[in-house]
Amino acid sequence: MKAMVLVGADKPLEYKEVDKPTLAPGEVLVQLKAAALNRRDYWISIGKYAGIKYPTILGSDGAGVVVEAADGAGAGWIGKEVIINPGQNFGDHADFQGPDFKILGLPDDGTLAEYVKVKAEDLYAKPSHLTFEQAAAIPLAALTAYRAFFTKGRAKSGDKVLVVGAGAGTGTYAVQFAVAAGCQVFVTSGTSEKIDRARQLGAAAGVNYKAQDWAEELKHLSGGFDVVIDSALGKDFAKIPDICNPGARIVFFGATAGAIPELNPRTIFSKQLQLLGTMMGSPDDFTNMLKLVNDHQIVPIVDEVFSLAETQKAIDKMGNSSQFGKLVISIS
Ligand SMILES: NC(=O)c1ccc[n+]([C@@H]2O[C@H](COP(=O)([O-])OP(=O)(O)OC[C@H]3O[C@@H](n4cnc5c(N)ncnc54)[C@H](OP(=O)(O)O)[C@@H]3O)[C@@H](O)[C@H]2O)c1
Repeated sequence: MKAMVLVGADKPLEYKEVDKPTLAPGEVLVQLKAAALNRRDYWISIGKYAGIKYPTILGSDGAGVVVEAADGAGAGWIGKEVIINPGQNFGDHADFQGPDFKILGLPDDGTLAEYVKVKAEDLYAKPSHLTFEQAAAIPLAALTAYRAFFTKGRAKSGDKVLVVGAGAGTGTYAVQFAVAAGCQVFVTSGTSEKIDRARQLGAAAGVNYKAQDWAEELKHLSGGFDVVIDSALGKDFAKIPDICNPGARIVFFGATAGAIPELNPRTIFSKQLQLLGTMMGSPDDFTNMLKLVNDHQIVPIVDEVFSLAETQKAIDKMGNSSQFGKLVISIS
């Protein structure tokens, strides 16, 4: 089969012929119609990720059709249109993943290929209102945004929420989900065009995080936030507690712009703020996220579709953050 393979440090991904996966008990073979990128693929491709090994087929997100099952565990899925939950072996505790947790697309071969093997338990029916390319854009980013907002952030209708970096794959889902849940949504983004796009998705207003007074402007526009979702962090994170309401939850799962700076502890304890880390999500989060997508007929924001052979071009685009939403790879 054809696949995009990570072949070595500081080398572009290679489009090459590799062996089709062979199934172990409990596994199914999915013929992929589309895959999608996450920042994780970019970090791995530039060597900034733990546990990198060569060769590996990258890709955590995929949608396709089940063509083979090792045994009865997956037999009922043959011929079905599916998406794959890339968070494998989450474990028994709902609050955090267990020691066997792993993410599809490193260490195991991922979705940037014509076929991928996964456990039957990681399959979910593809939402019928979506194309394969739209559905492939869902798994990792939508799961992470859903858990950040609802499971950890406890966002509810009427809350004022802030999505930092609304143009991110995770950011566009955060905006769509919060709007669907009846929250009043504010955003930051790196360009006025992206802020306009977020407003078209239902955000009330936004500011450019490159502006000197972005925090004051947001406080003025919103009055203060009940839930903040931040996947960028970096030095600007120090201002977030200042623009939160008492009892607010600040949830983070990435550090695109760098580490957490020095924070004013007095602001955090006097407002009784909660700083919450989160990581992808449990199978229950995945099920609930898909229910929200189906109930509200949410259509993922696909920035651009590339062919499998063009994957490196898509990764380079992610590297300069010029996308709004998801970068999708069409496979067959
Ligand atoms: N722990 C987990 O489970 C988990 C899961 C998913 C993602 N992540 C992490 O979360 C982050 C986002 O992932 P993704 O796949 O959604 O990334 P992505 O699609 O590549 O988006 C990255 C976005 O970061 C925003 N950004 C860059 N610099 C910023 C700054 N200084 N201030 C605010 N925003 C800034 C940009 O937003 P604009 O386009 O709006 O300017 C950019 O589009 C990554 O660091 C990723 O590794 C972690």
